[in-house]
Amino acid sequence: EPSSTILGIETSCDDTGCAVVTGKKDVLGESLFSQNVLHLRYGGVNPLVARDLHRENIEQAVSEALEKASININSIDAIAVTIKPGLLISLQIGVKYARYLAKTYQKPIIPIHHMEAHALVARMFHAIEFPFLAVLISGGHCILTLVKNVDNFLLLGYTLDNAPGEVLDKAARRMKLRNIPAYSKLAGGKAIEAAAKISKNPELFPFPIPLVKNRDCNFSFSGIQDTFIRHLLKKESEHNAVGDRIIPEVNDLCAGLQIVIAEHIAHRIERAVLFCTKNNLLKESKTIVVAGGVACNNFIFETLTNVGNLLDCNVLRPPSKVCTDNGIMIAWNGIEKLKKGCQFHDISLDSIDPKAPL
Ligand code: KG4
Ligand code: ZN
Repeated sequence: EPSSTILGIETSCDDTGCAVVTGKKDVLGESLFSQNVLHLRYGGVNPLVARDLHRENIEQAVSEALEKASININSIDAIAVTIKPGLLISLQIGVKYARYLAKTYQKPIIPIHHMEAHALVARMFHAIEFPFLAVLISGGHCILTLVKNVDNFLLLGYTLDNAPGEVLDKAARRMKLRNIPAYSKLAGGKAIEAAAKISKNPELFPFPIPLVKNRDCNFSFSGIQDTFIRHLLKKESEHNAVGDRIIPEVNDLCAGLQIVIAEHIAHRIERAVLFCTKNNLLKESKTIVVAGGVACNNFIFETLTNVGNLLDCNVLRPPSKVCTDNGIMIAWNGIEKLKKGCQFHDISLDSIDPKAPL
């Protein structure tokens, strides 16, 4: 059986990612232009800055992926590109460039849903059959979904307010972790993980777990954020930690925050597994995929693994660099759609959908 080769293009948020992936699960070439460090200066993603950087980098990102793959674009079978959800003006850069390439080289375009791609890419690295549960935790999203097939997702729960990565990023900024040289170049969540790891008293700051009495699978992180701020303000005033000064309990505060986020997600997973089991939605071998940038967090992943294992589930995640936004997952989703026999037509800029649900 001949395997197809797909070029994937991702520009939904602040990373310009491209990759050439085959149906045999080989990543022939990839490129990633990350804007993280730049955005740190703006205190979050600035959409206009993100758009401009995508525009600046997209051509080079594509040629770098092709060059590393030692492949001519004529030998590509199709171009997969993220059309939703994400920042409108960022998505437009990827879609416009994909359409230009498709027209110039006469290639089909495969439209990709960014969150579906996060979930499906785990199948590139592990033998995972449909259906499986996926918990997608990132800077912009928090979703629990039952993946029934390549193009069939049942949404089980979502966040009622913030995303976990967003809370971690804001907390890291508020604690001024960037001023600690070892953490200066790390994403917020990653800096918090490193600080929490060296905490000597992870129980110092109590955080109530949100929605414990709720029987659905939804998330809420705003209460966690409020509790965090209250703890921080109290310690800042105790130690008169103004300006660049960091509270001495910073590691313990990071640990407390990380624990409650992990526990909250674990509780929701428990609900989801119970719901699926009760309604016979999962097969004999039950799998939970954890993906999105926050899935890189080893403590959170281990907590979720323990809870999943107690429920008789196999808990898996893609490798770290494939958990965060990248072109590989977009190309892989294209492969999966081709294999499934999905048909594609030319896509217009109107098909871009920044707020698409699953
Ligand atoms: O999936 P992603 O690259 O982009 C979005 O779609 O949002 O996720 C980025 C998020 C950021 O909030 C970042 O702080 C978080 O993932 N992150 C982590 C870790 N590494 C990245 N959060 C917790 N622990 C980590 N090790
Ligand atoms: Zn993402």
